[in-house]
Amino acid sequence: MMTEKTAEMLDEIIASNPHKIVLGGGKGEYRKIVCGKKQISGKLVYQLEKYTDKQVFHENIGEEGLKGTLGGYIGENFRQLNSFAVGYDYELRVSKKGEPHLTRKKSDKKQVTIQGNNRKKKYILEEGMDIPVFKELGIFTKDGKVAKSMYDKFKQINRFVEMVDDVLKDYDRDEIYIIDFGCGKSYLTFILYYYLVEIRKKRAYITGLDLKEQVIKNCNALAEKFGYKDLRFEI
Ligand SMILES: C[S@@+](CC[C@H](N)C(=O)[O-])C[C@H]1O[C@@H](n2cnc3c(N)ncnc32)[C@H](O)[C@@H]1O
Repeated sequence: MMTEKTAEMLDEIIASNPHKIVLGGGKGEYRKIVCGKKQISGKLVYQLEKYTDKQVFHENIGEEGLKGTLGGYIGENFRQLNSFAVGYDYELRVSKKGEPHLTRKKSDKKQVTIQGNNRKKKYILEEGMDIPVFKELGIFTKDGKVAKSMYDKFKQINRFVEMVDDVLKDYDRDEIYIIDFGCGKSYLTFILYYYLVEIRKKRAYITGLDLKEQVIKNCNALAEKFGYKDLRFEI
């Protein structure tokens, strides 16, 4: 519960028109929350990035909801809040006994550009899709979200699929035969098979070749586990 004193301090912070607010040292579900001011469809909002150990969740709130949202976190799961604005920066700390303490110092920022929210990039393989090999690789968590540490890999794989997609624009047959020489662990091969069969609805026959017997054994076991009947591996 937000105390009256905390509410007054939040009023002062919000009146300074912060462009960024950071809640740190979280003890609950979230370790850190970063609120950045953004312009979305002509409206100013605060975009919250809520970090757990493995993921980051996004939420947009209007300026009118900022006080209630911050008040719900500070003093509960978070004991420190830092706010940045043209004019003044603030630090709000809540002691173990629940006593809030506000410090302010002159900010050296002269001007802030509020960024428009770049529309979220649309990936071919999107978060939330049931992509078995993404879970196997740890790119997706069990509930289908991109694992925070795997975001670069997720983007890289999507770039690969985009390149395949470009090539497919000139390919009008339904059947497609692919040989992957030196397939190794074949994660990309599995993704390619998933993409062609599950998304593009092609009849794809993919054969992976490698010198290593154990690699081939593992890949065949994985193809069987996923039920990918036209994906096979040979020495
Ligand atoms: C870098 S890994 C493959 C990576 C994989 N293509 C990918 O994108 O994740 C290279 C693989 O090529 C295999 N390889 C090298 N020479 C080969 C050959 N002459 N015939 C078949 N496989 C070969 C190696 O055993 C190794 O597993």
